[in-house]
Amino acid sequence: MNNYFSIQDIDALPIWVEEAIAIKKNPLSHKTLGKDKTIGLLFFNPSLRTRLSTQKAALNLGMNVMVMNFTGEGWSLEYEDGTIMDQGNSEHVKEAAQVVSQYCDVLAIRAFAKLEDRDDDYSEKVLHGFINHASIPVINMESATRHPLQALTDAITISEYKKTDKPKVVLSWAPHPKALPQAVANSFVEMMQRMDADFVITHPVGFELASQITKQVPIDYNQENALKDADFVYVKNWSSYQDYGKVIDNDPFWKITSEKMKLTNDAKFMHCLPVRRNVVVDDAVLDSKNSIVIEQANNRTYAAQLVLKKILEKS
Ligand code: CP
Repeated sequence: MNNYFSIQDIDALPIWVEEAIAIKKNPLSHKTLGKDKTIGLLFFNPSLRTRLSTQKAALNLGMNVMVMNFTGEGWSLEYEDGTIMDQGNSEHVKEAAQVVSQYCDVLAIRAFAKLEDRDDDYSEKVLHGFINHASIPVINMESATRHPLQALTDAITISEYKKTDKPKVVLSWAPHPKALPQAVANSFVEMMQRMDADFVITHPVGFELASQITKQVPIDYNQENALKDADFVYVKNWSSYQDYGKVIDNDPFWKITSEKMKLTNDAKFMHCLPVRRNVVVDDAVLDSKNSIVIEQANNRTYAAQLVLKKILEKS
């Protein structure tokens, strides 16, 4: 594996999940694999889990870690070819990616959607710019349209907690005061299509994700109906894909409550975090024994460690 851009870079999901669980049981089992290797983490957006879990994963493999908050500290980058750079951007990704490739052995990048121009976001110009011009492997730590480290984490977590071979998994939209990208939802939808799951998406009309991602996955516009007999309830807000980047509806009805969780098959509650309490989900659900969000976040380390291990073994 050269890059980890999306979950399409996972060649054999069940084996990957098994390997991640083995790493979790013995996180220092490959503690010299990354000796004398350096990973550079470039952040164009904030993070808690991705930043610390990826650092932890690299440290468990014996790597050196360099972190740079690009926004505010790095030069503003240009991504278009042939631009006359007489405006705001100071450096082209062509030079930036090649220079960073001299300092690091692996590069990981977080660059969210701007939610201004759908074609621009879905072209993934930041991640593709670095992938195209770097000479080292690149890992996606959440790009404009994908969050594959989160999706791998979610597959690991569901595999650990599932009680049946084919659990019912519901992805529910929930209210949020800000317009959020579709990346987490997109990667989760892609992952559920690869797992053996009875998978349903529920959201208000107008929040349909890109059809090239959802494909044949059933959409139920009635949240309570969708939640019936669920084994896992995965909650996430995203802004509209059709009316791109807009919060076209913020109906508090869609918040996850204890009453709604009673409709499920004693479902586990999942969220990638950070989560806005009592907006997305009630305290009573988040603090209940069925909430597995903290263990889900714990698994971020082992997902990142597995991806790094595969990259290091190939290099
Ligand atoms: N879930 C997730 O990516 O968390 P952070 O934004 O804190 O990294």
